[in-house]
Amino acid sequence: MKIFLDTAIVDEIKEAWDLGIIDGVTTNPSLILRSGRKLEDVLKEISDIVDDCISGEVISTDHEGMVREARELMKISPKIVIKVPMTKEGLKAVRILSKENIRTNVTLIFSANQALLAAKAGATYVSPFLGRLDDISQESLILIEDIKEIFDNYGFTTEIICASIRSPLHVLNCAKLGADIATVPYKTLMQMFDHPLTDVGIKRFLQDYDKSQK
Ligand code: G3P
Repeated sequence: MKIFLDTAIVDEIKEAWDLGIIDGVTTNPSLILRSGRKLEDVLKEISDIVDDCISGEVISTDHEGMVREARELMKISPKIVIKVPMTKEGLKAVRILSKENIRTNVTLIFSANQALLAAKAGATYVSPFLGRLDDISQESLILIEDIKEIFDNYGFTTEIICASIRSPLHVLNCAKLGADIATVPYKTLMQMFDHPLTDVGIKRFLQDYDKSQK
């Protein structure tokens, strides 16, 4: 499974990249707001740290505007992936951008039919949101299962990025379902390293080593 870091905080990206555990980064307007910086500046700095797969989201609602923004963002780095919303205009933009070999990530996906349409449009990635479905008591993992089944049935090369991840359990279950990627908040990624029995075990080993040296 590939792991992307879902943040626009460059220090978090640097730390995770140096750990050698992330394969890309996703941002969105809310994450950019949280960073307190401009999209273009953040994407430029991230592209100097991460090797590839850096998602930057367009804000236009018409496909012409989306395509215009996308072409501008691509001037920052070929590592950029253009995030577009799951709308009719968004899929029109995906069709145009895919013909220009510009990678796209169709976001705010909440149904398997949406993912199917995005894949048919030529999306490089689809981003189904788990946490926001769970928030309204809809079983998010069924969505991932359905998308995976459909993509496998027809051999779509579009990759599934599990997004709106809220816990290590989300990552675990998406991996068990065979999703291609999980885009994970920094806090959740750090939680994935930890287990209390590992801590207890290390402490005991160090204590026993010290005793053995006496
Ligand atoms: O990648 C999408 C993610 O940032 C949304 O997360 O927690 O706002 O649903 P959340």
